[in-house]
Amino acid sequence: MAFPIQRLRRLRSNEVLRDMVAETRLSVKEFIYPLFVHFGQGVRNPINSMPGIFQFSVDQLAGEVKEIEALGIPAVLLFGIPEYKDACGSEAYSDDGLVPQAIKAIKDTCPQLQVITDVCMCEYTDHGHCGIIRPDGVVDNDATLELLAMEALSHVRAGCDIVAPSDMMDGRVGYIRQRLDESGFSDTPIMSYAVKYASGFYGPFREAADSAPQFGDRRTHQMDPANVREALREVSLDVQEGADMVMVKPALPYLDVLRVVKERFGLPTAAYNVSGEYAMIKAAAKEGWIDEARVILEVLTSIKRAGADLTITYFAKDAARLLGR
Ligand code: PBG
Repeated sequence: MAFPIQRLRRLRSNEVLRDMVAETRLSVKEFIYPLFVHFGQGVRNPINSMPGIFQFSVDQLAGEVKEIEALGIPAVLLFGIPEYKDACGSEAYSDDGLVPQAIKAIKDTCPQLQVITDVCMCEYTDHGHCGIIRPDGVVDNDATLELLAMEALSHVRAGCDIVAPSDMMDGRVGYIRQRLDESGFSDTPIMSYAVKYASGFYGPFREAADSAPQFGDRRTHQMDPANVREALREVSLDVQEGADMVMVKPALPYLDVLRVVKERFGLPTAAYNVSGEYAMIKAAAKEGWIDEARVILEVLTSIKRAGADLTITYFAKDAARLLGR
């Protein structure tokens, strides 16, 4: 042999050794599990495009959150699907709305479980958009800020631990922060959906949350998938406005963005492994085309390796079981 071969395979020779030198280790403590809270009683609706995920009415939540907590998952992210929707999404900021009821039910059952709430108008408006619509059909940024602040406040009053604005209006983190501070909730953190792309991967979620826009799309407020410098501006502004944690969403097609956000800002950084990313794996696994357990752990490891401190994922329960084996 003319040159000395560098033997990287030495450390790959058996499973125990491979595990000893693993650079990235998944932990259930990093998972956040989304929950869809549906109006009514006795509801446990399966979501067709998200096998294994259900919409629950408030009375059904206790059993579910006990299971989540027993698996070691530290937090849930709540979405509400109200019975009545209107043009200004009034159910979103009602103190006895679905999400406040759900927060109380969860906190009564599992006081330690961290309750994060999605703050957005799209599940509550009859047109399915993320805010008030102007006559020209575009979401009115500044008029929407007040509704978001009222929504966040209704969640915090009901006892949620963290609010997560996902609407992508400019200035909403600062607006919500100020309102919470003025109302005596300066200790409640904001997890900002700072970098949220206008993505085709939200398709199944819109079935789950009944929040598909009735006309147009979300490209006038969510980000263009082509942009990464703009993502850094989004994060920088949210940090200035008072975000305590930032999020990149979706996860898999944007791991490069996740990496640079983490390196540049160093804040606790979450990634949202979204509904379409979940549905693809479930569908391919059902066909027998991929090994589901292996792919779940590979995907979640890649998200962590790219820089995620926290991963919001519909796989949280599956992964917790796989890791506990
Ligand atoms: C907005 C919101 C959406 C998701 C989380 N929050 C949908 C959207 O922006 O259209 C998507 C999550 C997923 O696809 O899993 N309330």
